[in-house]
Amino acid sequence: MDAIRWNPDHTLSLLDQTGLPVREEWITYAEYAPVIGAIRAMVVRGAPAIGVAAGYAMALAARQFAGAEDFAARMDRAADELAASRPTAVNLFWALDRMRAAVRRFGPDPDALEREAVAIHREDAAMCRAMGEHGAAVVPEGARILTHCNAGALATGGYGTALGVIRAAHEQGKVSMVYADETRPLLQGARLTAYELAADGVPVTLICDDMAGALMARGQVDLVIVGCDRMAANGDFANKIGTYSLSVLARHHGIPFYTALPSSTVDLSLPDGTAIPVEERAPEEVSAFAGVQTGPAGVPVWNPAFDVTPHQLLTGIITEKGVLYPPFGRSLAQRFG
Ligand code: MRU
Repeated sequence: MDAIRWNPDHTLSLLDQTGLPVREEWITYAEYAPVIGAIRAMVVRGAPAIGVAAGYAMALAARQFAGAEDFAARMDRAADELAASRPTAVNLFWALDRMRAAVRRFGPDPDALEREAVAIHREDAAMCRAMGEHGAAVVPEGARILTHCNAGALATGGYGTALGVIRAAHEQGKVSMVYADETRPLLQGARLTAYELAADGVPVTLICDDMAGALMARGQVDLVIVGCDRMAANGDFANKIGTYSLSVLARHHGIPFYTALPSSTVDLSLPDGTAIPVEERAPEEVSAFAGVQTGPAGVPVWNPAFDVTPHQLLTGIITEKGVLYPPFGRSLAQRFG
């Protein structure tokens, strides 16, 4: 399963994730500006996938501005506009920095900049495969795994981070059940995780977010694996809202709790999770459900898209370079410093 395609005619196609699982529709982009809206509206979403899409958007911009005298300045502005789309996932800024560096190195050469964007995409898929290999080792035989949001092929350059680990463990015959939190308010767990696991024949059961504690109390969860949008230098990390609550529940029940992420998600410039910017989204995502108003008009809504899980609640960090264990400040600096 994939969600991002670069076409031979130098256009970008994105699987519109807002329509899944009922509508599978691809949207094609020939210019960079509409890709900003696509990231904001979550046509493409998931930290690594946002970075890959931004890389391709810069490749589109390179063709648009190839003849311009002020090519570098225009490319810089395009990168700034893309950077303003969503604030939390650091992969966006990582990919844009890489494309800015490529502009400095190659100048107005759309083919070279396209190759850089394709490389970002391919490397991300390869990192997911490596994470899968390392991460599968921590999954016990017959595992019942709880996951939150969607950290799968749809959220990455392919294969997935948390779902990549689950896929690899499934290929080794170790997974007896994956429990997918539906993930209110936008239902990435129900609409995307359950969809892509079922499509791959991985056993999956859908639960509402508020059922996770009861499932753990019944002894039906062996480990939790989630994705990550940004990890600070001490191992604190932002992921989809509800991840923090899950980590507290897992600690209470003595259940191992892992996050899986590529190096492009690590932000060593931030000392801890308090410095991670958390996106707040439109109130209607909470006060309405599938277009039907569910909250009384006029009642204020708080709608943070992410929360921050303190590193003390993490068992391990699964990366393409291996599984890291506490003290995370040291293990992250050793691998990524
Ligand atoms: O708001 P989203 O759908 O972009 O949030 C996605 C998540 O929180 C994922 O868990 C995270 O990006 C990791 S994806 C490999």
